[in-house]
Amino acid sequence: MANAIVEETFETRYTLPPIEMIEDPPEEIRQKQKRVRELCTERNAILLAHHYQRPEVQEVADAVADSLKLSQAAAKTKADVIVFCGVHFMAETASILCPEKTVLLPDLRAGCSLAASITAEDLLEWKAQFPNAVVVAYINTSAAVKAESDYCCTSANATKVVQAIPAERPILFLPDRFLAKVVAWQTQRSNVFGYPGYCHVHKTIQPEQVARILEEHPDAELLLHPECGCVSSCMARAAEGGLPQERTFFLSTEGMLRHISESREREFAVGTELGIFHQLHKKFPDKTFYPVNPDAVCAFMKTITLDRVIRSLETMSPEVRVSLETAGRARRAIDRMLELA
Ligand code: 13P
Ligand code: SF4
Repeated sequence: MANAIVEETFETRYTLPPIEMIEDPPEEIRQKQKRVRELCTERNAILLAHHYQRPEVQEVADAVADSLKLSQAAAKTKADVIVFCGVHFMAETASILCPEKTVLLPDLRAGCSLAASITAEDLLEWKAQFPNAVVVAYINTSAAVKAESDYCCTSANATKVVQAIPAERPILFLPDRFLAKVVAWQTQRSNVFGYPGYCHVHKTIQPEQVARILEEHPDAELLLHPECGCVSSCMARAAEGGLPQERTFFLSTEGMLRHISESREREFAVGTELGIFHQLHKKFPDKTFYPVNPDAVCAFMKTITLDRVIRSLETMSPEVRVSLETAGRARRAIDRMLELA
């Protein structure tokens, strides 16, 4: 199917919420954060936040991390309640890992365009065409899709997961077409078949923007999230010498932070959602960061506000729960990933 038709179909499957501007004075933000912490104590709740969350939400969280670390944190917490400041598939994963806990997602509009690219029915149809294939599902998928998959992975461990699968078995990698290309390239496998899904935010990070930012800042290292629309072009340019291979990296959000902490470089061009810049500036105040696309904002992630976190903890809703039957099947794929991580 031509990409334009695929994209039209996927775009009918989600509604982008409007991004609210929040202009609370600092004292009001502090009061709300204090209220969040009081409620967390009262409810014995842990607050997990993704790197793309609003800064004031990141600041009040018990942990701020990528999808992999957040699912590991959910799996081992002793809290009774998990408040997921992230998107729906992350809350579902937490509920699958901790069925006895209450998992709250402060705004149910927090979906994900990438997760919406594939349904369980789409996957069943695809699998029927490749009966011998192993299915690797990115964590950005619904629980129903994970339940039909053999392995789960995140951007931090996709290559490791694919490497663990016997070389002769074809792999159906879903749903991100760009991450599938990075994984095939890094594992040197020609039998990784990518589903044509994509994240509407990362797809907008384009080769021309990479070229422009490196022209303006030639000393910067290039850090790209593997969901970016420019990855194929950047891999090809790195292979033919158009980009310095030793200064071009495809990394998860956590991988970016780790890389920067170990790097002697001072300047970085960063291709991902802008929420991560809060941690970058906070953790590395003497390094300089340039967004490859300064408009890369995920409206789903920004639905979570301090007011909604407070309301969620007060009312203990909205709760995300996965049926035991689906959770049981999805858990196999997630556990296989966590054993390898
Ligand atoms: P990470 O796992 O790298 O945090 O990415 C999650 C995500 O949603 C990327 O858009
Ligand atoms: Fe989904 Fe993209 Fe938002 Fe990540 S940035 S949560 S992949 S829509």
